[in-house]
This record gives sequence, C-alpha cells and structure tokens, in this order.
Amino acid sequence: MPPEQSQNISHFFLKLFSGLYKSKQSHFYVKGLRIKNRLGLAAGLDKNARLINEFNNIGFGFLEVGTITPKPQYGNPKPRIKRLVSYDSLLNSLGFPNDGVVSIKSRLKKVSDDICLGINIGPNKDTTSEEIKNDYLACYKEVFEYADYIAINISSPNTPNLRSLHNIESFKSVIETILNERKKHKKQPKIFIKISPDEESGTYKNLIDTINNSAIDGVIISNTSNNKNLKKSLNVGHLPGGISGKSLKNSSNKILKEIKPILNDEKIIVAVGGIFDVDSYNEKLELGADLVQMYTGLIYEGPNLVKRIIKNEKQISSNS
Ligand SMILES: Cc1cc2nc3c(=O)[nH]c(=O)nc-3n(C[C@H](O)[C@H](O)[C@H](O)COP(=O)(O)O)c2cc1C
Repeated sequence: MPPEQSQNISHFFLKLFSGLYKSKQSHFYVKGLRIKNRLGLAAGLDKNARLINEFNNIGFGFLEVGTITPKPQYGNPKPRIKRLVSYDSLLNSLGFPNDGVVSIKSRLKKVSDDICLGINIGPNKDTTSEEIKNDYLACYKEVFEYADYIAINISSPNTPNLRSLHNIESFKSVIETILNERKKHKKQPKIFIKISPDEESGTYKNLIDTINNSAIDGVIISNTSNNKNLKKSLNVGHLPGGISGKSLKNSSNKILKEIKPILNDEKIIVAVGGIFDVDSYNEKLELGADLVQMYTGLIYEGPNLVKRIIKNEKQISSNS
C-alpha cells in the first residue's frame, strides 16, 4: 500500500485503540517547559492537529503539530513519501500539505492544558522571500495562545528557498518579527528554531551566536537531510525530498555535537533524527539534548516503541 494511504489507515486505528495505552504520568519542568517525559512526537505526523489526544495516549511527553502555513495547501504531487525499508528510513517531499492556520486553530483551542503542545509554523510555497517573515507572523498571531512552544521551521528541504533563512540577515529579520510580537502579549510561548542538518560549520556558528544573543529559547536539531551523497548511497540520488530515520542519525548527531558546546546553557536542545530504540534515544541525551523527538521510528516500529523507550530511559539529572 502507498505510504501515505497506509499512514491514514494507521491513524484510523490509532483513533480506535490509543485509549488502551493510556497511563497516568506526572509532569516535570525542563528549563521552564512543562512535560511528562523527554520523548516527544516530531513535526509532520500530525500536520493538522487531528490526533493530539491519541498521540498523548500512547505516552509521548510532548507533541509537536504542523508544519502549519497561513493558507491551506495541497503540497507536492504524489507519490511524495518513499519507504527505504532496508535502511529503516523514509524519503519525503511532501511540501507542507495542511489545512491552513485558521482551520487548524479551531482544533488547537480544544487541547487540554495537561498536554505540552508545540506548534510548528512555516511559509506557503508561493510566498516570496521578501514576504516570508509575514507568513510566520500570520501563523504566530493565530496560534500563540494555544502553544507551549512555537517551532519556527526554516529547514524543510521541500519548500523552495526556505533553507536560505539559515543566512544570518534573513534569519535575524524573521526572529525579530516574532520576538517583537511575543513581547506584546501576556501569553509568551517558548520559541524554538528547527534547523537543517546540511549546512556548513560557519553557518551554524553564526546562527547560534545570533540565538545566544536573542530571547529565542531553543533549537530543534534536525530536520530531514537533503545531502546528495547520503541520498546517492541510499539509491535515491535522483529523487527530490529529505531523508529521515536511521540513515539520518549520524548527520543529526554530528550537528548536535557541534552545537551543544557553543549554545548557551539556558537554551533548550530538542534532538531528532534516527530514534528507533532506547539506545539511540539515550545517545541523544548523552550528547547533551534536553528533549528528544521521533517520527520515522514510530512508522516502522509502531506505538509500543514509545512506552519501551520511556520505561528504559537512562535517568539524567533534571535541568528544571
Ligand atoms: C513524512 C515526513 C513529514 C515531515 N514533515 C515535517 C514537517 O511538516 N515539518 C517539520 O518541521 N518536520 C517534518 N518532518 C521532519 C521530522 O519532524 C523529523 O525532523 C525528521 O523526520 C527526523 O526525525 P526521524 O528520523 O525520527 O524521522 C517530516 C518527516 C517525515 C518523515
């Protein structure tokens, strides 16, 4: 069955059976963020915020919905997800298909305070580079009230020119716009930047310097990889899209190692890429992540993986 169709069917079963997984977990704080455990759902699986209770039931400590854009959009033509089964990986070129912020907002209003909710925002495909910051702002204004954190996605490889926001002038202009807006309201969600695993060292250094000197609260490392050599080695060098899953783990861990020592200690690091078991999860924590997320591991291993990881996680001292 095509991957997108089978994901839709699995969502139906999740709706039916996730209640059976439900268990009580108490909250704790990590650098000011109130969570139930350190393993979260990565962006992209619940793009339209339709399965928040279900993913909460299977045991995630926090959830990230989106990427949400101002206007609804279909995304790229299908097929746009390819399973690379022998590598435990996926190649996706979805391009932010979603219902648009206004429609999704109606569901966000109903989310229980018990759930730590991240909302990942991005621009529409047809938005020009000059207008991009206004797309982030439009989304922020609609949803900030419902978010524990907002993830500013500058790293999907499937939206033209999005990754050019890793260049410092454009980046500053986006974060200033959002941070100025945040200041105006009593409710001030944390703001995280979701970055690409495919940039040069100098780019990360500039980005992290800017983040250290700003009120941005943390980084999400990383989005999928568009690296040509990696894609060639997986025999998909000729196809569009980004790699996730086990084949992404080394690149995302490399960036985590590079960023950890230069990022100020009070900032939160969310590490994502290649979590398939408790060892890969613990490895991210040992490399200095405060929180961890997963997507592809859940597709291959199913919902029991969440419980397995949180039951066996290595205890680390709380950074609350
Ligand atoms: C099919 C698919 C769709 C995704 N969509 C998004 C998205 O909309 N926004 C985003 O920030 N990341 C998106 N991601 C990236 C994931 O959130 C995550 O960063 C990446 O897959 C690495 O984690 P993993 O190896 O556990 O899958 C998507 C990933 C996949 C596989």
